[in-house]
Amino acid sequence: MSGNTYFNHAYAGIEAISIFVPNHYFPIEDLARVRGVDEEKFTIGLGCKKMSVLSPFEDPVTMAATAMKDLIRKSGISKDQIGCLVVGSESGVDESKPIAVYLHEMLGLEDNCRCFDIKNACYAGTAALRSAMSWAMTPASKGRKAVVITTDVAYYDLGSPGEPTQGAGACAMLIGTDPGVLSLDTANEAVHTNEVMDFWRPAYRNSAIVNGHYSLECYLEGLRKTWSLYRDMTSYRMKDYDYLLFHTPFPKMAWKAHNLIYKLEGGFKALGMTEEESFNTKVLPTLKAAQEMGNIYTSSIFAAITSLVEFHDMKPGMLLGVFSYGSGSSSEFISGTTGKAVKSWANRTGLSHYLSRRRKISYDDYVLYRAAYEQRMKDGYFVNHEPSDENPFVYLGIKNHKRLYSYTAQDSEDVKTIGLTKPLQG
Ligand code: COA
Repeated sequence: MSGNTYFNHAYAGIEAISIFVPNHYFPIEDLARVRGVDEEKFTIGLGCKKMSVLSPFEDPVTMAATAMKDLIRKSGISKDQIGCLVVGSESGVDESKPIAVYLHEMLGLEDNCRCFDIKNACYAGTAALRSAMSWAMTPASKGRKAVVITTDVAYYDLGSPGEPTQGAGACAMLIGTDPGVLSLDTANEAVHTNEVMDFWRPAYRNSAIVNGHYSLECYLEGLRKTWSLYRDMTSYRMKDYDYLLFHTPFPKMAWKAHNLIYKLEGGFKALGMTEEESFNTKVLPTLKAAQEMGNIYTSSIFAAITSLVEFHDMKPGMLLGVFSYGSGSSSEFISGTTGKAVKSWANRTGLSHYLSRRRKISYDDYVLYRAAYEQRMKDGYFVNHEPSDENPFVYLGIKNHKRLYSYTAQDSEDVKTIGLTKPLQG
């Protein structure tokens, strides 16, 4: 129970965390130039810096598998101790087969491991976390751990208002009842559901459609409702939080979210800090991944956790407020306290490693890779690429309507292909 000075009830949470950042990025000022837009609209108006762009052999499954492989290696968890794998994503590669089952095979998990996906726009990551925590707290888990994966590709139509906010990435988290990174309040539930058409992706499209300005209002309404609910339940106030982590479709949204809470809490008179001082202290340190990677949908708040843990002087017992929003819409506000192992994840989440190894691409390559992404959902798409240490999981394409991946097996040096009809062992 050490490291938790806030919750005196049963709790669960994050024991280990890792993030995957794709191989390429496209700078936001280059996009502004080719689109003939004032650069400051994107960099200051939206707060964006870079967007992650997938290589033709990457997809939501390969990103997730790499994040999970890193998580297993860094946490030292043995695979027979993983009893549940939940994937939150709004970038499903199949309308039926779950991403979790591809990961189960690629990572060589035990066959008595429960695996499933949750789809619920950007809220799916939090739904996956809630579900995994509940599982970890039941006797059925028998002390085993759950893994939560979030993985998404956030692409909008070229030239559309959403284009500068694009991104891609994945997070992996080990969930259990000894949460050394972050324990979460399981006794209070501040949620808000409201049917709205603010952002959606019809099953026949690769990119989302967004009613942008309306979506920001829907987000802020979800925040206002859940913040007030949670505050009334627990009596925590803004001043109690060391950091506030907001779902971040683009960094300026976190500024808008912060300012709403700042006003609700009485502004300078009550808080003794200007809006800017408060934002710089409580929110800015959470935004590194969002600025560098762009929108990563379900991974957004978990990438905010990695931004804090990777680069900042985190101590056990810090109180974090986390707001999750999924278009359509579902909102939740939850609190967490950092655990005794939080410091040991500094420089270990993968964020600085992957950011330092990725490469900048030109506008022509950006357009080429985007076009490949449209093609890669079609039968007959094929990429000739071998798995390597740098890219251990490779998406090969679709043959006879089956998605094919190539990867190096966990227990040997053999390169395996997944997606073919497999003989049963009986
Ligand atoms: N210098 C500095 N700032 C500038 C500027 C300039 N030259 N020109 C415009 N801006 C500011 C605007 O004032 C605005 O800031 P504000 O919102 O604080 O007022 C911001 O830049 C964006 O300008 P705007 O005209 O509103 O942009 P837009 O209409 O092209 O689109 C979004 C903005 C956010 C609606 C669009 O990027 C989008 O749809 N994004 C995706 C939203 C999403 O993911 N929603 C899901 C909800 S989770």
